Amino acid sequence: MSRASLVGAARRARQRAHAPYSRFRVGAAVSSGGRIFPGANVENASFGLTLCAERVAVARAVAEGSRRIEAVAVASGTAPPTPPCGMCLQTLVEFAGPELPVVLVGARGTKVETTLGALLPRGFSRRHLSRGRRLPRRG
Ligand code: THU
Repeated sequence: MSRASLVGAARRARQRAHAPYSRFRVGAAVSSGGRIFPGANVENASFGLTLCAERVAVARAVAEGSRRIEAVAVASGTAPPTPPCGMCLQTLVEFAGPELPVVLVGARGTKVETTLGALLPRGFSRRHLSRGRRLPRRG
C-alpha cells in the first residue's frame, strides 16, 4: 500500500467530515491487508459524542474483518499537521504495534512521518491484562 494512496484517501475523507461545531475537519485512512479504510470526524450537537476521524477509520476496518492495521494517515488543515488525540492513539494500540507508521499531512504541504510508539510509548494493551491476571492473590 503506497503512502500516497493512503494520504489521498485521508484527504478525500476529510472533505466528508461532519464538523459544524468546531469547523475542524479531519480525515484519516488506515491500511490493512491491501485495503484502505477511510474515516472522517463526526460531531454531534451533544459535543461529547464526537467521533474522531481515526477511530471512525479503525472501526470501519475492524467491522470489515481487518484487525491488523499496517499504516495510518491523518489529514488536517493545520500546520504543523494534527496528530491523533490520546483516545485515538490508544485505539490504534489495540490493532497495531509500536512500529505502526503514522503519516500526518496538514496545511501548506506540511508532512510528518512518525510511529505509534513515538506518539504513545507505553500504551496499555492486552499484555498488561494477562500479566495482571497472573499476579498471586493477596490475603
Ligand atoms: N479530531 C479528529 O477527528 N482527530 C484528531 O486527530 C484530532 C481531533 C476532531 C474531533 C473534533 O471533531 C475536532 O477534531 C476538534 O477537536
